[in-house]
Amino acid sequence: MIKTFPEITGKRPKVTVVGAGFVGATAAQRIVEKDLADVVLVDIVDGVPQGKALDMMESAPIEGFDAKIVGSNDYALTKDSDIVVITAGLARKPGMSRDDLLKKNADIVGGVVSEVVKTSPKSILVVVSNPLDVMTYIAWQRSGFEASRVVGMAGVLDSSRYASFIAMELGVSPKDVCAMVLGGHGDSMVPVPEYSTVNGIPITQLLPAEKIEEINDRTRNGGIEIVNYLKTGSAYYAPSASAVAMVEAILNDSGRILPCCALVKDAYGIKDLYCGVPVRLDRSGVKEVIELKLEPNSLEALQTSASHVKELIAVLA
Ligand code: NAI
Ligand code: 2OP
Repeated sequence: MIKTFPEITGKRPKVTVVGAGFVGATAAQRIVEKDLADVVLVDIVDGVPQGKALDMMESAPIEGFDAKIVGSNDYALTKDSDIVVITAGLARKPGMSRDDLLKKNADIVGGVVSEVVKTSPKSILVVVSNPLDVMTYIAWQRSGFEASRVVGMAGVLDSSRYASFIAMELGVSPKDVCAMVLGGHGDSMVPVPEYSTVNGIPITQLLPAEKIEEINDRTRNGGIEIVNYLKTGSAYYAPSASAVAMVEAILNDSGRILPCCALVKDAYGIKDLYCGVPVRLDRSGVKEVIELKLEPNSLEALQTSASHVKELIAVLA
């Protein structure tokens, strides 16, 4: 008998992606195409992770990657994963806020984490499911992992959107724009102009205040802008790229400083809450939360955003 799927030997780093939908499958594709790790793609729908994984594997001779990918409906093959990216859940539809997803996705993410803890007790969890900050908190609570091993993806995406809009407005290369968005992944997220630059030049010196405020608004509504175009789902190219940037930073022990949803023990006037802040990512996960000196209006906005996350967590209590 010939082999149905490639063998995952455990000699390369191993990343499990839970949820083989738009974000999960695209993240899996990016990971194998970059040869970052072998991937196990898991979904509850029979056949979907298997079919997508095999389809991606069949692109390896063309794309020229060595990483392996397999699909499954259970967690046996995920054993001893280094990183587990959690994208399982429902996506936003038009007219639906991220918060509407709260209770349904809390059950899904909680169930996924219970499985992951049994098979990959030493893994680092990268949470993507929405509402992001609450789901990351649930993953932390349910896993019992130290907070450094549970991190959420949102700030990388929101900052990339911010950087894209700045680049478009100025007509400069997106490669030269470094932008920062902090806070919860919701309507109250906080674009931070004072830490957003074009090759080191603060955007406050390149754009008038009204333009920056318009770009900030567009950034806050970046997710819904895509939902309104797609109508049947939400963004996945930039979200998958963002999650994979975090996976890469962790696997490569790079020490990149990225805005991520992490446990803020005591910084920015926020205590013991998962929220979007700059962190240093390395092979241990979140090595440290970095406390920046913010302008008073940015700090106040961050605290307001954090209080919204706190209210959502209270809904689940
Ligand atoms: P999707 O609907 O395409 O994929 C979700 C997948 O999860 C489906 O294939 C579904 O069968 C699977 N699933 C559901 N329950 C499961 C379970 N118990 N175990 C395993 N798989 C399960 O949705 P999409 O577009 O991939 O989005 C996924 C999640 O990511 C959504 O919650 C969405 O809101 C969120 N998201 C978050 C972003 C962020 O910045 N944090 C950005 C984009 C999406
Ligand atoms: C986004 O920002 C839906 O949260 C997702 O695109």
